[in-house]
Amino acid sequence: MNELEAVVLAAGQGKRMLSGTPKVLHPAAGRPLVAYPVRAAIEAGASRVVVVTSPSTRDAVSAALAAALPGADLEFVVQESPRGTGDAARVGLTRVRAERVMILCGDTPLLRSDDLCALVGALEQDPSARLALLSAHLEEPAGYGRVLRDPDGRVSAIREHRDLASDAERAIREVNAGVYVADAAALRDALARIRSDNAQGELYLTDAVALVSSLALRGDASALAGVNDRVQLADAEALLYRRVAERHGAAGVTVRSGARIDDTVMIEPDAVIESGVVLRGATSVGARAVIDVGSVVTDSVVGAEAQVKPYSVITSSSVGERAQIGPFAHLRPDSAIEAEAHIGNFVETKKTRVRRGAKANHLAYLGDGDVGEGANVGAGTIFCNYDGFQKHQTIIGEGAFIGSDSQLVAPVTVGKQAYVATGTTVTRDVPDGALAIGRIKQENKAGYASRLRARLSAQKRG
Ligand code: UD1
Ligand code: CA
Repeated sequence: MNELEAVVLAAGQGKRMLSGTPKVLHPAAGRPLVAYPVRAAIEAGASRVVVVTSPSTRDAVSAALAAALPGADLEFVVQESPRGTGDAARVGLTRVRAERVMILCGDTPLLRSDDLCALVGALEQDPSARLALLSAHLEEPAGYGRVLRDPDGRVSAIREHRDLASDAERAIREVNAGVYVADAAALRDALARIRSDNAQGELYLTDAVALVSSLALRGDASALAGVNDRVQLADAEALLYRRVAERHGAAGVTVRSGARIDDTVMIEPDAVIESGVVLRGATSVGARAVIDVGSVVTDSVVGAEAQVKPYSVITSSSVGERAQIGPFAHLRPDSAIEAEAHIGNFVETKKTRVRRGAKANHLAYLGDGDVGEGANVGAGTIFCNYDGFQKHQTIIGEGAFIGSDSQLVAPVTVGKQAYVATGTTVTRDVPDGALAIGRIKQENKAGYASRLRARLSAQKRG
């Protein structure tokens, strides 16, 4: 039999979010809220996690958790109607096989596995206790359940905010974090006996606390912050971003203030993440790479020693080692910029491979293309990839030179070491080593400018 399992309560409606998205699926620092407590439970030693959802959110919650925590042993169970945390815990416990169970809420993303381990340890050290709950001291405890203790300090009950009965109870600053470790059999038994005769007409999990021998472990107030509305979501996310930055800092990454790095991002040592950078999703950054001010990188791989200069936007793409991107570059999905290649300011790429050492330094659109090793794409070059119906490929051979302000009308291939003269509209393939030139022959008219100027100024004078 497994020693320890967890139940995560996530079936509440989350009305205060005013949202079409279930509360526990709102993202914070790149993961759905519910992924954080589930992960904390696993890190604290839960061999399985039972997640309680509502009938309408079951599929979305299970899909989101499978994506966020691949490989985790999760089970989903539906609470038919939101009759309170006590009912949700009862439903969750029907799937628990272990002797000991952690109960967590799906809306507490700041909870840490260390807090859970401490709670498990506290219960183990007190043989008379059947349940341990996490509490914290809050100067403004409004909204939370209060921890009532008897004269010798043992927990006698939890009183919900709306059910506080006296000034003495209202004065209590020790609040219930909504995190419990319990003997599963004792908790099942207590939950069978609770009733809904309270201000909200709900079955309170907290009422079970008074029915079993319970202890409260004081933890850090920051761990318990629950997300009930958008303001609390923003506050919790700011703390999560801070934790992520501290984690990377401890691993040898420079993270300047004001960078926002999702919990999902990987960064190697000695990389520098400048102020205002946003790193999202399945992004990784190699050693000694620099992501400079204001760049936004989503689901992309940036190689070692690459430089992403300020205000570049990179999405679902890869940047090779020592490549240089930006400033103000836009790599749209499926761009593969290989090692030592350069993509300069106001260059946009999409579904294009720019091979090793190739350069497109200024003002260009490279869509649906393949730029050969060491090729140079001049300023103002456009890959005309779209005819209004379909996208077509532009292929540029190794070492080719595309003069400024050229248009390459796809599908088209420019051969290896070929030259495209400035201002050429390329509509036919250019063989290896050939020069393509397509422009009207220049004519110089001697003295014409002086005569024109004289005539125009005479006209102006009248
Ligand atoms: C709860 C505690 C309170 C504690 C606070 C800490 C109770 C009665 N109160 O209050 O003592 O101080 O957490 O944050 O437990 N849920 C269900 N099904 C339901 C109702 C709720 O799954 O029928 C889930 C919610 O999705 C949520 C969690 O249980 O994840 C907590 O519910 P919520 O309504 O937020 O409880 P609080 O009022 O915050
Ligand atoms: Ca809550």
